[in-house]
Amino acid sequence: MPLSTPDPDPPPVRLRAAEPGDALCLSVLAMQVFLDTYATEGIRPAIAREVLSNYSQDAFNAALADPRSRWCVAERSGHLIGFAQVTLGATHGLAPAGQQAELLRLYVQEPFTGMQVGTLLLTCAERLASEGGASVLWLTPWVHNHRAIAFYIRRGYEDFGLTQFVFEGESHENRVHAKRLRDVNPA
Ligand SMILES: CC(C)(COP(=O)(O)OP(=O)(O)OC[C@H]1O[C@@H](n2cnc3c(N)ncnc32)[C@H](O)[C@@H]1OP(=O)(O)O)[C@@H](O)C(=O)NCCC(=O)NCCS
Repeated sequence: MPLSTPDPDPPPVRLRAAEPGDALCLSVLAMQVFLDTYATEGIRPAIAREVLSNYSQDAFNAALADPRSRWCVAERSGHLIGFAQVTLGATHGLAPAGQQAELLRLYVQEPFTGMQVGTLLLTCAERLASEGGASVLWLTPWVHNHRAIAFYIRRGYEDFGLTQFVFEGESHENRVHAKRLRDVNPA
């Protein structure tokens, strides 16, 4: 079998704000990444219902129309490969005091992980949160999502304790991670 060599000149990754027409591709990418990340034992009805309801095109259309949400979309060669979704004003009691915003989703399609796309999206999300008035960005990774937790810790996110994510009557342990944002426009 021939050995493949890395492309010496890969197409560039471009970041942009989301548009209403993005809901279809955001929905499908999010379903794929969600299942890759959380359906670690296969598919059961609760997970299937969660994906088909909260990750549907309609759900993304509604989220895109939410005035509190901010988006950063990563594309390569005209294809969606990842996105970050921030909710301004969403609060968590365990996160540090301040103007809080939640990093609701940071999803990179698996073939494009390890290529700095997540770092670009996280930096973009922090900027969007800061520009929206937030001084603290928090998120709640699943305790078994070791890759994501290590990723956030290496980027300055501290662990503020345990929380429960409840869906379909199931309770899942998540950690609360947060970072104090620097002013994007310091005086
Ligand atoms: C967590 C996530 C957003 C990171 O995105 P990413 O594009 O891989 O991030 P980057 O390439 O910028 O950084 C990945 C880090 O893992 C390292 N890495 C090494 N091998 C890797 C591999 N095979 N795959 C991914 N990352 C790898 C990278 O070198 C880098 O290390 P660093 O933190 O020391 O810089 C991405 O893995 C993802 O979308 N996961 C699934 C969804 C998820 O868990 N989201 C977070 C929910 S809270």
